[in-house]
Amino acid sequence: TEATVRAVVNLDVEGPVINRHVYGHFAEHLGRCIYGGFYVGEDSDVPNVGGIRLDVVEALRALGIPNLRWPGGCFADEYHWRDGIGPKGDRPVMVNTHWGGVEENNHFGTHEFMALCELLGTEPYVSGNVGSGTVQEMSEWVEYVTRQGGSPAVRERRVNGREEPWTVRFWGLGNEAWGCGGNMSAAQYAFEARRFATYCRDYGDNKLYRIAAGAAEFDYAWTETLMKQLSHLGCQRVERPLYQALSVHYYTISGTWSDKGDATVFTEDEYYATMLQANRTDELLTGHGRVMDVYDPTKEIGLVLDEWGTWWNVEPGTNPGFLYQQNTMRDALVASLHFDIFHRHADRLVMANIAQTVNVLQAMILTDPDSGALVLTPTYHVFRMNKGHQDAASLRVDTPAGIPTREVDGKPLPTVSVSASRKNGRLLVSLSNLDAGAGRDVEIDLRGGTVGDIEATILTADTLQAHNTPEALEAVAPRAHEGVKFEGTTLRVHLPAHSFVTVAGALA
Ligand code: AHR
Repeated sequence: TEATVRAVVNLDVEGPVINRHVYGHFAEHLGRCIYGGFYVGEDSDVPNVGGIRLDVVEALRALGIPNLRWPGGCFADEYHWRDGIGPKGDRPVMVNTHWGGVEENNHFGTHEFMALCELLGTEPYVSGNVGSGTVQEMSEWVEYVTRQGGSPAVRERRVNGREEPWTVRFWGLGNEAWGCGGNMSAAQYAFEARRFATYCRDYGDNKLYRIAAGAAEFDYAWTETLMKQLSHLGCQRVERPLYQALSVHYYTISGTWSDKGDATVFTEDEYYATMLQANRTDELLTGHGRVMDVYDPTKEIGLVLDEWGTWWNVEPGTNPGFLYQQNTMRDALVASLHFDIFHRHADRLVMANIAQTVNVLQAMILTDPDSGALVLTPTYHVFRMNKGHQDAASLRVDTPAGIPTREVDGKPLPTVSVSASRKNGRLLVSLSNLDAGAGRDVEIDLRGGTVGDIEATILTADTLQAHNTPEALEAVAPRAHEGVKFEGTTLRVHLPAHSFVTVAGALA
């Protein structure tokens, strides 16, 4: 039997608040994410409001998704927002050059996106076009969406049926400017970010939270360039810096970018390689955070991981440009591990957006193109089980005797991951056992309070490859977990092999 993992949590020592926006989402005009996923058009047989699928909305409402990033991704830097307003029949058609070279009819535009956010009860995060757009175009988009009172863009909005402005805080200044967003150098982008940010105005009470397009993975020099610019501009002394946050993107693959590995067919070695990659998110956030600390020790500028998740080879027979992939118990553990890491970086990480919500990459929901059936993925269930961490105070988890590790490609992979938080008098502990074949017991000494009415939930399956399909909707679904006992101040949790468990209770 494996040794018990011992942990200590001081219930009365609250750490930084876990920003609910780290449970954020991302929807790009890519494959079947928008068209067929979120949006089926008003004439569809699938129940909809204004073309937006109601079953998708209902499923996502249960997750309490805090924000939705749109329209890309790479698509954002070739998107011209005026193409997506006005009568649908008059909207120009364009080619989506990044994603499958398909025609985009622009039927899902600004008004449809805002309607979707309203239905979801989520905050919009608009990603503006720096790569192929102009400063004027972006400036007028901000005006169109957020300005109250008279102005040319406001009159345009009114003609299109919307009297009142929307509230939009999150505004992205381009996407992956080092790549599909313009192939710029860090210095070049820093210059562009400064120009674009200047003309993205705050109208009335709408205060934009401008997010500069950040680094690829571990490119700390990129982060340094953007941070240095803020400090050179003396932004710490003016009312608000030009941009409030920097982003970074990091995906998890098990192979190479030309052969990323299959979503459902993988070996145990590939599984561990995946978890090692996912665990590097900790190194990523630590590294970018350290650079930011040099220029911003009081952590005024946020770090935004606005694309993360698994990226596998597409499902056989599907369009390679559509990035459609299945989602297994392995994906669920990638998600739960990311969340533990996010919770530990609550002091700097203000937002994270999984890529992408429906039918693309590590999705919450897969929709069947033929039957229209809706499948909730294992990743969906992790988001749901972890919902209570949103805006909760993080609680440090100490493991004085260490965490068991497994050597993967010569590097140590911790095989147990735990995080905890408290909110509104409730404790939530999340535990992942990454070991593919062995169960593990965890004993948590809960100090400084007691816990009652404990509810434990488990997500696991016979195999790591298990996944949900229209024929087997609940092959991987949460169930009540019996393997939890609370005695004295000790919470004992049994974690079967490759499982994710949450334990919630009332604090006294
Ligand atoms: O999420 C898919 C793509 O990955 C996005 O469009 C791009 O930003 C990233 O490279």
